[in-house]
Formats: sequence, structure tokens, C-alpha cells
Amino acid sequence: MSPRVRIAHLSDPHFGTILPGVAEGLLATLAELKPDLVLLTGDITQRARRSQFRAAKEFVRQLKPVPAIAVPGNHDIPLFNIFARLFYPYWSFKNLFKDLLEKDYVYNGVRVTGLNSTSRWRHVQGDFNIERIRRRLDKPHSGIKVRIAAFHHPMDCAKHVDEKNLLRGREEAILALHDAQVDLVVGGHIHDPFVCLSHHRYPGVPRSMILSVAGTCLSWRTRKGAPNSFNLIDVEPTDRPRISITRYDIRESMRFTPEKTHEFECQGSTGWGHLSSNET
Ligand SMILES: [Fe+2]
Ligand SMILES: [Fe+2]
Repeated sequence: MSPRVRIAHLSDPHFGTILPGVAEGLLATLAELKPDLVLLTGDITQRARRSQFRAAKEFVRQLKPVPAIAVPGNHDIPLFNIFARLFYPYWSFKNLFKDLLEKDYVYNGVRVTGLNSTSRWRHVQGDFNIERIRRRLDKPHSGIKVRIAAFHHPMDCAKHVDEKNLLRGREEAILALHDAQVDLVVGGHIHDPFVCLSHHRYPGVPRSMILSVAGTCLSWRTRKGAPNSFNLIDVEPTDRPRISITRYDIRESMRFTPEKTHEFECQGSTGWGHLSSNET
């Protein structure tokens, strides 16, 4: 049997805006699914308050022994405290999440790289330093079969209304991701789960990547038609790798169950191809 690396991609929990029972339901579902990694792509808190980061830290503590890594979202930077926003925007995040922030995770031929896309100046679209991203992604490829990059801000979206929320400078970012042979780019921010291949929005990028956005896993700040959800990413890191992405939606029982699965396969120099999409 080929090895499998299982990643639970959670986004936008917005601690401070969570209804009773939802976090417990997510923890119970994850305990059954037994991921190798939990990946948190930002908006961990609603207003970057210490009490909200403490609640998030307690949630992460309950994931153990599963490792977790995280990138910040725009809501993890103080909004109303202008002094904090300008001079120490990541103080609370770093103080409470220092062992999780923007880390690399390498396991069984899969590398996940967390990349900060937030900016104290640009709340909606984020920003990034391209040289820093290239440095973070510039790692030896020996033994690595699948590379995953994680931002908060998404590279693509399903609805026209979300175009304004896509990562600022994404055309430059996608070239850096391509050059680093990234296979899958994940994000959050818009609370509207979406999976596609990169060549639709970025036809000039020769090697196709998978782009995946997770919804909000815990917050009541949901969008129409997108209840609380997360994405379960199963990676087969073989010489012809495969990736499946299954969206799990919350049900009335407060458990999360599979809603839709997308299957992809790496097809050599042209990159990733779509095999199937199934409602479950
Ligand atoms: Fe959010
Ligand atoms: Fe956000």
C-alpha cells in the first residue's frame, strides 16, 4: 500500500464568534479522521484579543498529539488599536502561537510551507514580500514528492464578489510558487470553499497547480450555502502523486461529514490534472 499523508486544512475559526458545540464537534470529527497534520490558514481570532488567542490555543492543545502549524489572517492583526497595529501587529499571535507560526512541516515526502500574506496596511487583499516567499520555498527537493504552500488570502475564488479579496500581487506569487514546483496552494479568508486548477485563472503558468480554499471551520460568520466546514487533504506522495480534497460540512448533530471530493493526479511536466469530483 502506498503511503498517505492526511492533512486537515482548517481556516477562519474566528475565535470569539463561535456557537456552542461547534468546536467540540470539530474536535470529535478530527479524532475519528486521525490527520497527520492540522493546518490553520488564518483568521484564528475575530479581533486579535488575548482572550481569543487563549481560546484558540486551548483548541490547538486539544488536537494533540497531532501537530499543527498556522499562518495569520487579517483578523489576527489588531484593527482598532492603531498603535499595536502599526508597531507590533503580530504580538499576540507570536506570543501565544510562537511554536506554530509560519512553519514548515515535512513528513513522508510531503512538505507544507506556511506563508504570511497579511499586511498591517492592506486588510482585505493582504500583501507579501516576494523575495521572502522565494527564500521560504527555496528548499532542497530531495525526497520531497509533493509541495504544499499555505496562505491566508486565496489565489482564486468562485464568485465575482470575492475578486476584491484575492491576494494582492497574486500573479507574481503564482510564478514564485511555480518556480518552487509547488503542487497545491491552500487559503481561506472568503469563507467560501472552492477547489480548482490554476490554469483557468493563470493560463500563462506552464505547470498546473491545485488551488484550494477552505470555509470557516467554526465561526457563525458563514456565507450563504457554505456552512462551517474544513477540507481533508489526502496526499499519496508516490512517483505519480495523487491528491484528494474532501470538504466536510457541519450537520445538525454537530459532527462534520463529507460533502464533496475532488481527485487530482500529477501528470508530469504539465502539472496536475483533475480526475473526478463526487458529491458524497
Ligand atoms: Fe475570515
Ligand atoms: Fe481574512
